[in-house]
Amino acid sequence: MNLLDRPRRLRTNPAMRELTAETSVEARHLITPHFVVEGSGVREEIGSMPGVHHVSVDNLVKEVGEDLKLGLKSHLMFGIPNDKDEHGDSALAAGNPCEAGVKALKKEFGDDVITITDVCLCAYTSHGHCGFLENGKVVNDPSVEQLAKMALNHAQAGVDIVSPSDMMDGRVGAIRDKLDSEGFTDTAILAYSAKYASAYYGPFRDACDSAPQGDRKSYQMDPRNGREAIIETLLDLQEGADMVMVKPALAYLDIIRRVREEVLCPVVCYNVSGEYSLVKNAAVAGLADEAAMVRENLLAFRRAGADIIITYHGREALTKGWI
Ligand code: PBG
Ligand code: ZN
Repeated sequence: MNLLDRPRRLRTNPAMRELTAETSVEARHLITPHFVVEGSGVREEIGSMPGVHHVSVDNLVKEVGEDLKLGLKSHLMFGIPNDKDEHGDSALAAGNPCEAGVKALKKEFGDDVITITDVCLCAYTSHGHCGFLENGKVVNDPSVEQLAKMALNHAQAGVDIVSPSDMMDGRVGAIRDKLDSEGFTDTAILAYSAKYASAYYGPFRDACDSAPQGDRKSYQMDPRNGREAIIETLLDLQEGADMVMVKPALAYLDIIRRVREEVLCPVVCYNVSGEYSLVKNAAVAGLADEAAMVRENLLAFRRAGADIIITYHGREALTKGWI
């Protein structure tokens, strides 16, 4: 054949493919989530998420110490309290797992670690909603006030980045105001901007015992909507977000791409629990080449436009050389 262009030339061998690859995933792109419980000496595997554990702060410090050796510097903490009530007041209790986790990590590792805390009420409320429930409705403005207090509490503990995942309107602005008025002008905000009402959060809700009464459709986004992701993202940036997030990731690659084209700040995606468990359980059942699948998924997020990926696969992927 008389072909001028032969794209296969650049795929000839591994070295040539390495030279011409457009995308890569590195440890520095990854954020590792942790489920932090009260007490000490706890390290229990979460049934719905093989390979992921509930840890108390002492074991959190050990795990993060190992992660740092792999180059995983950024750690997102979800606090799981013993006590839940109507308003999620245990989110503000002295020594709560997020606050204790931040203090312990910063004491041990200083600026070698980036601490990030989830700011949301669903793990702390008895009804499992991300805000206050009044007459069967999740009310916005009183919830925002509580969330801002929670963010301040984390900032006082020394967190580097607070990450509101509640999807109440105006919470990023309220948190920014609160932090600034108390002198925490350097505490960054990673906003869950385009967070969808997704079936892929199931294993996480098991882990946090946070399945809501009813559903979250009055505050999380409708999977039918794409433009709305841009509205939410631009609002969060106007209110002072430093980074924005799309969540989940795999079923929302188009949204990652659209947000990427719309903003200049770092775009983060959350490779959520249900996405993790799908791959993990397929591997456990011998149905998939886990290494190749994890690598392909992580690359897809980067190719779609994510700068940063929150994922449960990071530690294993780096330990076993998958990325
Ligand atoms: C709660 C929250 C959820 C996740 C992160 N923060 C679940 C939810 O909204 O029900 C999901 C993370 C995951 O599935 O890995 N605000
Ligand atoms: Zn929540």
